[in-house]
Amino acid sequence: MSQRNIVLGVTGSIAAYKAADLASRLTQSDFSVYTVMTQSATKLVSPATFRALTGHPVAVEMFELSNPYSIEHVSLADLADVLVIAPATANTMAKLAHGIADDLLSCTALATRAPLVVAPAMHTGMWEHPATQDNAATLRRRGVRLVGPAVGRLASGGRGAGRMAPLEDIVDAVTATLGRDGGLAGRRVLVTAGGTREFIDPVRFLGNPSSGKMGYALAAAARDRGAEVTLISGPTALRRPAGIRVVEVVAADEMLGAVERELPGHDVLLMAAAVADFAAAKPATRKAKKEGAALQLELRRTKDILEAVRDVEVKVKVGFAAETDDLEKNARAKLAKKGLDFVVANPVGGTNSAFGSDENQAVFVDAEGTTPVPRLPKRALADLILDRVVGRLENA
Ligand code: CTP
Repeated sequence: MSQRNIVLGVTGSIAAYKAADLASRLTQSDFSVYTVMTQSATKLVSPATFRALTGHPVAVEMFELSNPYSIEHVSLADLADVLVIAPATANTMAKLAHGIADDLLSCTALATRAPLVVAPAMHTGMWEHPATQDNAATLRRRGVRLVGPAVGRLASGGRGAGRMAPLEDIVDAVTATLGRDGGLAGRRVLVTAGGTREFIDPVRFLGNPSSGKMGYALAAAARDRGAEVTLISGPTALRRPAGIRVVEVVAADEMLGAVERELPGHDVLLMAAAVADFAAAKPATRKAKKEGAALQLELRRTKDILEAVRDVEVKVKVGFAAETDDLEKNARAKLAKKGLDFVVANPVGGTNSAFGSDENQAVFVDAEGTTPVPRLPKRALADLILDRVVGRLENA
């Protein structure tokens, strides 16, 4: 993502202070961030803050002789790979919707052909006003990506819709927008993530330590390459990624049902979930009491999801194999048995475990051979997996 240029428009909403953190996060994600502020935004946060956080000059005035750009709105418009306006006031949204260009930011927005991401932030009454709603609809119709606003406590004291969307959602929208012409553009990708829970009575379940991080990283990485992503997720503590359709399930049987229902029409299946192989044969309808010195549980085998959807037409199917022993051998057996294009095999158990970690060590196993991958952050591993998926799609 390095060398991608983001022009960040900051307008005079009280949420302008959050834009400083946004500028910092985008800069840390290796984007070059050029800030344009409206006059009213400069009353809330100093341009010097953005200058320091981004390492680039901050533009406010249209015709400032000391600035480094020649005709500033044109050069910023050309420079932008994406224009993000966060926070966007009702006033700025109105200008965007109607093509009004009376300051540097609105001139830049009119002149640029870069995609636009807009994060509205305003008083609930202003957001809900038909004028603003019409403007929002106009912008959406033109392909502008609106993020939020969120519902919550507002600076005015009340509660309602109008808070700027969480920064993570805005960053997600930016990366997804930049990736919309990527290697998975026009493709549909289904990802499963997290562990399943098999209840033995209403308050206890059999589970596993899967955090869902690998599957969520895959879903975000696929979205950022332009894919339309469906994420079938077991219970996790993770934030729902923006721009991804999430189907929540709890038990293995439910995950099976969701995959069977959702999979047709997808090009790729990435089966990262840690699905329980056994469930209680007769789950108790009431909480089991601790009578006796021991408890006997009868378990039944759950259905294997990958085997159940073996005949569904999907261009690329990827399975995971979590193994404590004989990693490659076991992964190779799963490749054949489950009809997969390749298997991502992870060592689990002991100090090396991928469960819950932000990193993962893997071995790719396919018909051609075995490729070890060094220990990497899960997002980086997700990108390597998708490189392979894209390669296979191109040859399919
Ligand atoms: N899997 C599945 N349905 C299940 C269990 C697992 O589709 N009921 C998928 C997992 O999502 C993973 C792959 O199969 O992509 C391998 O999972 P793993 O737990 O390593 O293997 P199992 O097939 O369960 O075999 P074993 O427990 O014997 O190692």
